[in-house]
Amino acid sequence: MKENRAQFATKIGVVAVTVGSAVGLGNIWRFPFEAGSNGGGAFLLVNLLFVFLIGVPVICAEFIIGRHTGANVRAAFRQLAPGQKWGFVGYIGILASVLILSFYSVVAGWTMEYIVRSFTGFGGTGRSLEGEFDAFASSGWRPVMWTLLFLLCNYWILARGVEKGIERMANIMMPALFLLLLVFCINSLTLPEAGKGLRFLFYPDFSKLTAKGVLNAMGQAFFSLSLGLGGLITYSSYFKRHTPLMKTAALTAALDSLVAIMAGVIIFPAVFSFGQQPAAGPKLVFEVLPAIFGSMTGGAVWSVLFFVLLFLASLTSTVSMSEISIAYLTEEMHMGRRGATRLNIGVAMVLGTVCALSFGCLGHLTVGGLTVFGLFDYLASNILLPVGGMLISFFAGHRLERSVLDSELLSSSRRPGRLEVLAVRLIVVSLKWIAPACIFVVFLFGLGLF
Ligand code: PHE
Repeated sequence: MKENRAQFATKIGVVAVTVGSAVGLGNIWRFPFEAGSNGGGAFLLVNLLFVFLIGVPVICAEFIIGRHTGANVRAAFRQLAPGQKWGFVGYIGILASVLILSFYSVVAGWTMEYIVRSFTGFGGTGRSLEGEFDAFASSGWRPVMWTLLFLLCNYWILARGVEKGIERMANIMMPALFLLLLVFCINSLTLPEAGKGLRFLFYPDFSKLTAKGVLNAMGQAFFSLSLGLGGLITYSSYFKRHTPLMKTAALTAALDSLVAIMAGVIIFPAVFSFGQQPAAGPKLVFEVLPAIFGSMTGGAVWSVLFFVLLFLASLTSTVSMSEISIAYLTEEMHMGRRGATRLNIGVAMVLGTVCALSFGCLGHLTVGGLTVFGLFDYLASNILLPVGGMLISFFAGHRLERSVLDSELLSSSRRPGRLEVLAVRLIVVSLKWIAPACIFVVFLFGLGLF
């Protein structure tokens, strides 16, 4: 079966699609608002700890499982642990990916609206923008239309298959996005309250971080790395034998964190300079960015460029979410690729519409203070992904033969150096003990069970 499946054409392609899946709204939209609501610097520090202590090893675990079996999530577990129930990790992943796809498409839809508004002009700078976003998001049909349109774009790419659609796009747009963010960082550093913003982002004030904030920081790490739902198992099943897994994992984590930090460097100086609130929630970035562009020369051009690239970055992420269900439906349920894609996108269209409306007419529909949009995000990011990650790391650490871990992690080097051997050891220890235990403890406290 392995031979018949598509493979990514180049080495750069491998890193680019993995980073393409990781980098998206999670870094540029979700990170700033989570950091802004959870005390800034302390949140960043704890988030980075999770990324490197748990994230990198669990990425490796997904890579190992995926490449070793060359199969979708359920088939992979069936192959590695026949007759056991591990395959349900695949269902957790499918559920999480559908929930995420639904609310994510709403936000991606906002970026499409903002592409259009970049041409027609935003209301002005500073406070006057606050009402503008609310008015749009609660306006009913318009956000719904964008959500559906965004999902149609996904359908169009997905129906064309893995290699052509995803790889080509990721190779071009990721570097472009990076350069643009760099320009905006420099611009933000010249704003009057830049110091205040940087202090907020980088100075860890632990008195502002609650147990719930720590859970959010862990959820953010998993969300931003596209981790815990088997997506990387699916992706790495397309990897070649000599793709270096540890390097790819570390590079993905480093680049992903870098982009999130850059987003913070762009947003927070502006938040304080334009008198906005860091804890504004999901709308934060969509209120702050227009103010930034409004203050730049040639703002409209920057704005168009940025939102177009953000839109594309969202696409590379959502395509990887859909690929999880599609691989399952085509290979396990023997559906055609088109039919599987239709089913996946169709479900997301229904749920996405509900999410989009939860900023307007369905806003009163709440569970524990969360709207449907917030609930989907909370369930997926703070619960399903960490649970998935905990199971995956436990599985890799305790159920896989050590020789499989070694041979996959070291597959790229004929004679591994001391550093590589040490890295393998650290990863194995984290998979066996640190990651599962850490996730469990954060749950106990963050969910208020303890
Ligand atoms: N990591 C992506 C982002 O940061 C979101 C994502 C989550 C993608 C889960 C795939 C799976 O935007």
